[in-house]
Amino acid sequence: MKLSDKIQNIAPSATLEIDSLAKKLKSEGEPVIAFVAGEPDFKTPDFIVDSAREALLNPANFKYSPTGGLPELRKLIASRTTEQVKNQIEFNSKNVVVTNGGKQAVFETFAALLDEGDEVIAPKPLWLTYPEVIKFFGGKLKLVDDLSLESLKAVVSDKTKFLLLNSPNNPSGQVLTEAELKEIASFIKKTGIFVITDEIYMNLYYPENSYPANSQLSDEQDSRPIAPTLLNVSPEIQDQTIIINGVAKSYAMTGWRVGWIVAPESIASAVISLQSHLTSNVNNIAQRATLAALGDTDENYQKSKDSIEEMRLAFLRRRDLICRELSKVQTKDGKGRFTLSIPNGAFYAYVNVESLYGIPLGKDGDIVASASQLAKLILEKVLVACVPMEAFETPGYLRFSYALADDEIVEGVSRIQKFISE
Ligand SMILES: Cc1ncc(COP(=O)(O)O)c(C=O)c1O
Repeated sequence: MKLSDKIQNIAPSATLEIDSLAKKLKSEGEPVIAFVAGEPDFKTPDFIVDSAREALLNPANFKYSPTGGLPELRKLIASRTTEQVKNQIEFNSKNVVVTNGGKQAVFETFAALLDEGDEVIAPKPLWLTYPEVIKFFGGKLKLVDDLSLESLKAVVSDKTKFLLLNSPNNPSGQVLTEAELKEIASFIKKTGIFVITDEIYMNLYYPENSYPANSQLSDEQDSRPIAPTLLNVSPEIQDQTIIINGVAKSYAMTGWRVGWIVAPESIASAVISLQSHLTSNVNNIAQRATLAALGDTDENYQKSKDSIEEMRLAFLRRRDLICRELSKVQTKDGKGRFTLSIPNGAFYAYVNVESLYGIPLGKDGDIVASASQLAKLILEKVLVACVPMEAFETPGYLRFSYALADDEIVEGVSRIQKFISE
C-alpha cells in the first residue's frame, strides 16, 4: 500500500532518533553520555505529583471533560498569562486551549492558520518540528538569518501568514531583547500578519552573567526572572499574537503532556473544533497536576516559584560548566576547535564545529565534512551523543543539552576533548 504523499514528506525527529540510538547503546551496557534530549533531568516537584495523586481519588476525573481544557485550568492559564504581560492587557478562558503538550499546540495552530501555498517567516536556527508541520499543511518556510527589519521586509509578501518566534530559543539558547521584540512588533503591526510566539522556555532565563546568581535576584520574593516576551513589550499586537507554552520544560513535566495556546478567541475556538476530532480533552489527572504547577492556591504558587528557581539556578550553574569545558575542545595544533557564545536561556549549548572539517581527527585520523558525520564519529569513538543541527537549518553546529549531572557533563566533554586532541 502506498503511503500518502503528505506523510512521506515528513522526516522523523532527528533528536529522538539519536536519543533512541544512545539509549539502545546504554541498554546494551555501553557507558554512553547523552547530551541529547530536550528534557530536564529533575523529577516533577512533589506538590505537583501530590495533586495528581489526589485527583486519582475523584471519579469525576475518569470521565471526558471539555475539549478546550478544564474550566479552572483555562481560567488560571489566562490569568497567569495576563500577569506575565504585566496586566497591560487581559486574557480570559476563551483565549485558552489546553493541548497534549506544546507539540500538539504547534500542530493545531498551524492547521488552523495555514492553507496550501501560505508562507511562514522564521529565523534560523529553528526547532526541527516547525518545518515538518509547515510542510504537512502545504505551507512554505521563508527563513531569515536574523530578525532585523531589513531581513523581515525582504521576505514578507502577500502570501505571508505568520512570523514564528521562539525565545528562549531551541537550539541556540539565545533570548530576544526587549528592543528586538519591539522592532519585531512594529513589523507585525505594520504588515497585519500574525505572530506565533513559542515561549515554552520562558522561565529558563539567565540574565546573570554567570553562576553564582546575583543574590538580590533570588532573595526577593517575586524577582524570579522571566525572559522578555512579545506582548510584554508590545501589548498592542494582542489580536495578532498566538502564544504557545506548556509545563514540560519549566516544571520537569515532559511526560505529563500538557501544553496550551493563548490566542484570539476565533483561533482558539477553531483549534478546539479540530482537537474535538483528534484527541478530545487532555488527560484530566495531568490537567489537575498542571493546576498545582501553575499555583492554584497561594501555597502551591509559592512552591511553584521556588521549584522553578531551584531548577533555573541548577541549569545556570551547568551552563557555565559546559560552556567552559566545551570551549576547551580543540585539535592539538589549535586549528580545529569548538566555538560558542554563552546562551542566556533554555538548556542547550550551541557549538560551531566547521573548523574541524577536513582535518584528521583522533588516532585514526578520521575526516568529517559535516556536523552529522562529526556527531556520529563522536558517538562511535567515545560514546558521547549530541545533536547535529542540519535539521534545525544550521548545518555546521552541534547542540549539547546540559540537562544532566555535573560529573557527566565534565566526563562527556573531556572524552570529546581527548579524542579530538589525540
Ligand atoms: C521550542 C519548543 N517548543 C515546543 C516544544 C514542545 O514541548 P512539549 O510537546 O513537550 O510540551 C519543544 C520541545 O522540545 C520545544 O523545544
